[in-house]
Amino acid sequence: MKLSKRALEMNFSPIRKLIPLADAAEAKGIKVYKLNIGQPNVVTPDSFFEGLHNYKEKIVKYSHSQGIPQLLESFAKSYQKMGINVKEEDLLITQGGSEAIMFVLMAICNEGDNILIPEPFYSNYTSFCQFAGAEVVPIETTIETSFHLPSKEKIESLITDKTRAIMLSNPVNPTGTVYTKDEIEMIAQIAKEKDIYIIADEVYRQFVYDDIPYTSFMQLDDVKDRVILVDSISKHYSACGARIGLIASKNKELMSCIMKFSQARLCVSTIEQHAASNLINTMDNYLEDVRIKYQNRRDLLFSYLNRIPGVVCYKPHGAFYAFAKLPIDNAEKFAKWLLTDYSYENQTLLLAPGPGFYQSEGKGENEVRFSFCTSVDDIENSMIILRRALEEYNRIER
Ligand SMILES: Cc1ncc(COP(=O)(O)O)c(C=O)c1O
Repeated sequence: MKLSKRALEMNFSPIRKLIPLADAAEAKGIKVYKLNIGQPNVVTPDSFFEGLHNYKEKIVKYSHSQGIPQLLESFAKSYQKMGINVKEEDLLITQGGSEAIMFVLMAICNEGDNILIPEPFYSNYTSFCQFAGAEVVPIETTIETSFHLPSKEKIESLITDKTRAIMLSNPVNPTGTVYTKDEIEMIAQIAKEKDIYIIADEVYRQFVYDDIPYTSFMQLDDVKDRVILVDSISKHYSACGARIGLIASKNKELMSCIMKFSQARLCVSTIEQHAASNLINTMDNYLEDVRIKYQNRRDLLFSYLNRIPGVVCYKPHGAFYAFAKLPIDNAEKFAKWLLTDYSYENQTLLLAPGPGFYQSEGKGENEVRFSFCTSVDDIENSMIILRRALEEYNRIER
């Protein structure tokens, strides 16, 4: 019996592949601080659970493939509140942002097409492209320029007749970069000139710090037929397990194609959609309180990282990640060593090694992504462990 080329070529998640080593460390009684994944420790709003309890049907039925009307209405209202002109008919509910991206890529790519993505990028983008038979073409960004985009000419030079879209998360996972209005407009200009789509992944839109202005691609009128917004309640409302996301687009032909995929998988969980539709009734200050919480954690993490000799870190302005260069030879080796050979006062760290966020061979080798959606105490303890671990690692390895 054979397996498909697609299945054999797909990689395991680089963020999750160290988990067995972390489990083994925990089995030995070591406390492992998990700075590797974006699972917020913030409490999900009560409104979600109220919505859940308000579900009084006697049968858990399939819902409409596009999503339940209450949820579509509540999303449309929340976009309108942000000044984004989106109506229910422009929306399609998906199983998280993940399914949204897969559906979009499958709708716009043929085998061998490519998608331009600023690198480093969210590692599952590679797998999503593989599902659609598309290739990732990385747009190089570096820590020295705070991971902002290169020039228009440089980006345009990567575009071929196989290019279907530029896909980018904003704020960026894994770097926390927030693109400027000029950058957003530059991408829009390129997309128009080259006649390609923009896949705007805005799942971290609520988490922008330091009063940095935020521009959504959905605010640009002249590219409204080519912008495809991907969104999700996972991060905004700390509801990752609910699996509720969406696609928003004014392009009716594209949305009608994506509807065929949605019908094929029937619907998104009916009960979770009910719960999510009540999120519109979340206390007004919830999102702002969470944003301030993350900003404080970002400050804490950044100040610790900056004081560790040899660490290079750019201050992230959004999302809940920091991407840093460490004084090490190899991030994968270091991350494994932390779990198999090291502990300080019976504690160690689980980190996300940089290469997992790059497609380009040899990049990110001494870089690591730190997630700061964990508690202040965990951040402080982790940074004490990191500092000592780096000293010990370099003493042994040299
Ligand atoms: C940039 C980005 N996009 C999309 C997703 C997918 O999120 P979900 O499927 O939980 O909505 C994630 C999850 O971490 C992410 O970081």
